[in-house]
Amino acid sequence: MRLTGKTAVVTGAGSGFGEGIAKTYAREGANVVVNDLNAEAAQRVASEIAHAGGQAIAVQGDITREADWHALRDAAIGRFGSVEIVVNNAGTTHRNKPVMEVSEAEFDRVFAVNVKGLYWSVRAFVPHFRERGGGAFVNIASTAGIRPRPGLVWYNGSKGAMIVASKALAAELGPDRIRVNCVNPVIGDTGLTAEFMGVPDTPENRARFVATIPLGRFSTPQDVANACLYLASDEAAFITGACLEVDGGRCV
Ligand SMILES: NC(=O)c1ccc[n+]([C@@H]2O[C@H](COP(=O)([O-])OP(=O)(O)OC[C@H]3O[C@@H](n4cnc5c(N)ncnc54)[C@H](O)[C@@H]3O)[C@@H](O)[C@H]2O)c1
Repeated sequence: MRLTGKTAVVTGAGSGFGEGIAKTYAREGANVVVNDLNAEAAQRVASEIAHAGGQAIAVQGDITREADWHALRDAAIGRFGSVEIVVNNAGTTHRNKPVMEVSEAEFDRVFAVNVKGLYWSVRAFVPHFRERGGGAFVNIASTAGIRPRPGLVWYNGSKGAMIVASKALAAELGPDRIRVNCVNPVIGDTGLTAEFMGVPDTPENRARFVATIPLGRFSTPQDVANACLYLASDEAAFITGACLEVDGGRCV
């Protein structure tokens, strides 16, 4: 067990990669706080963890709202005493389409969730990590932030912002023993897949994406969770400011 004695908050853990991360952390001994905008989804994942013998609570909340971050932090500390790991996983995208067709509302939503969500996460948890003498942020960015595809301009930009902010946070918070790392998944089979593709999710259209991935398949929640497990564990005690591609070679 690689996370025994630690408590992890995982945002957007009601489905997709976040669900995989939450369940993997719980199997490795962590107490897990399952956050999602969707209360039912968060509760389902927390219940499944509990049925498998793990420790988890569900906390509904919107990561774009400061008050929801305070409630999330207070619920986590209230139930488990402290938090050692925060996984900033919740994210969203505009549909894959030409840049001139992305509305202001879509742009604002993408940056509110993918960038401002990280801002509030830092504001809510850095004081707690400082008091505790350290902590770890694991931020789910994307290959989109370093090897952008056409049709996803503002999503790509938001993930690039997350990557640079994470490196800057690593530099600034290192003296507080707060580690900040990113994981960059390539396209995976989750709630966002159809939006990323921008075309019907058919075998033929999937094949076009798979053709750009040397290892020849989409990423899975377990692939992403395995990288997040390493970065949150003590094995990564000297790793900060890193960006780990989980992309089957897409960014080579
Ligand atoms: N699926 C991919 O191909 C892919 C590739 C690279 C990176 N990512 C990133 O992975 C992360 C997880 O996405 P996923 O692919 O698992 O999609 P998903 O839609 O399956 O999961 C995202 C979860 O986040 C929740 N969420 C959305 N907005 C929220 C908010 N404001 N507050 C709290 N929760 C919110 C959703 O309800 C959902 O349960 C995202 O940051 C995404 O950008 C996904």
